[in-house]
Amino acid sequence: MYSEKVMDHFQNPRNMGEIEDASGVGTVGNAKCGDIMRIFLDIDEDGIIREARFKTFGCGAAVATSSMATELVKGRTVQEALQVTNKAVMEALDGLPPVKVHCSLLAEEAIHAALWDYAQKQGVVIQGLEKPKADIHDGDSE
Ligand code: FES
Repeated sequence: MYSEKVMDHFQNPRNMGEIEDASGVGTVGNAKCGDIMRIFLDIDEDGIIREARFKTFGCGAAVATSSMATELVKGRTVQEALQVTNKAVMEALDGLPPVKVHCSLLAEEAIHAALWDYAQKQGVVIQGLEKPKADIHDGDSE
């Protein structure tokens, strides 16, 4: 049911933990399954993501997508990080079962929320980044 990559990132998650004094922090959740994901970004003065970490209280797919999403945004500019969509994360994981697609959506939303937090703190605009909706969504927007 799960790809080897999903199992690997679930069993050996990369970048788990927090970043103290992070440049941006985003927390999102899904009200239906109750899972919560928080992503921390450390961004340098050139707008490059130096470090990304996550804390996820959720299912295995949520852990695997957080792990992969943090890997994918590291070393990218804040603008490039917008391209790390849930589809990009799923592709990098060799797919997810349909019922688990919403888990990867959490990763995209958590990155966007962290980027938004950074932009607010720095007073900068990230082209194409929309204000995160509510912190917790109902999971119908797959
Ligand atoms: Fe909800 Fe995975 S079951 S995030």
